[in-house]
Amino acid sequence: MKSWGIPATERQLIFLNPGPLRQLLPSTIQVSEIDHDPVPAQQATPFSTAESTGLTDAVEQRRSEFLTTRRCAHEALATAGAPPAPLMRGPRGEPQWPAGWVGSLTHIGPTSAGRPTYRAAAVAAADRFAALGIDAEEWAPLPHGTSGVICTELELRSAEALFPAATAQPMDRLVFSIKESFYKARFPLTRTWLDFLDVEVDFGSVATRDAGVARAAGPMTGTFSVAVSTPDRRHPALPDVLSGRFLIRAPLVVTAVMLER
Ligand SMILES: CC(C)(COP(=O)(O)OP(=O)(O)OC[C@H]1O[C@@H](n2cnc3c(N)ncnc32)[C@H](O)[C@@H]1OP(=O)(O)O)[C@@H](O)C(=O)NCCC(=O)NCCS
Repeated sequence: MKSWGIPATERQLIFLNPGPLRQLLPSTIQVSEIDHDPVPAQQATPFSTAESTGLTDAVEQRRSEFLTTRRCAHEALATAGAPPAPLMRGPRGEPQWPAGWVGSLTHIGPTSAGRPTYRAAAVAAADRFAALGIDAEEWAPLPHGTSGVICTELELRSAEALFPAATAQPMDRLVFSIKESFYKARFPLTRTWLDFLDVEVDFGSVATRDAGVARAAGPMTGTFSVAVSTPDRRHPALPDVLSGRFLIRAPLVVTAVMLER
């Protein structure tokens, strides 16, 4: 791994091995994941000043999540064989991956004591993948009152079928994360906005579904499809239906949407 001028004391990041996304994704996708910020944000050295433009007025948490997640991205890119270069933010917040690569970033926490911290990057060669989106969430219900603007009844019923009857699971969080992954995969190709209710997640229509058994302990994995359900939001740059994978490994759920070439 290249050191990019980052001080030696900051170079020794202990990445999760294997982290939940590494468990989830095929080896053709390079992943770097970490469950803490290695140094306080004020002492962390950005990859480049260009990359961290915009952080000047950011609060400590934003600086931390940005810098650590960028470190994950550079680690993943370097391991995949990409030459070092700043990973800039596009006008809508999207990471601008170097030519020849697609990828996605996610970060959560820490929101309060006892809540998880997680930062991750996934990167793949653009000649193998046309689109890639990842998302991580805490495996807990969405805030009260938000489920109805994110999920349909049909989606929640489709998710419920993954779990044994009478187990209360935060299905709305799973659907939310999938939609975030879908949006991140789709946006770089379409550059268009989508509302949560413009897409429909289905856990039942994927022939290779490998979920169905939710264990009390240990990770649970499965597949899904996501379709753009509002006809005038479809876009010629992408198929109307994409597929993806999820993994529940408490306290996290991670999801990924991919389009292989
Ligand atoms: C952009 C968005 C998807 C990010 O998801 P999130 O769960 O809030 O946050 P995460 O930590 O998982 O991901 C943040 C990262 O997403 C990436 N991102 C932001 N905007 C993006 C975009 N337009 N396209 C792709 N990736 C984007 C960035 O890398 C960002 O991290 P950074 O700012 O440190 O670089 C979300 O904030 C959003 O705007 N959602 C509304 C649109 C939507 O999801 N519609 C659903 C219908 S499908």
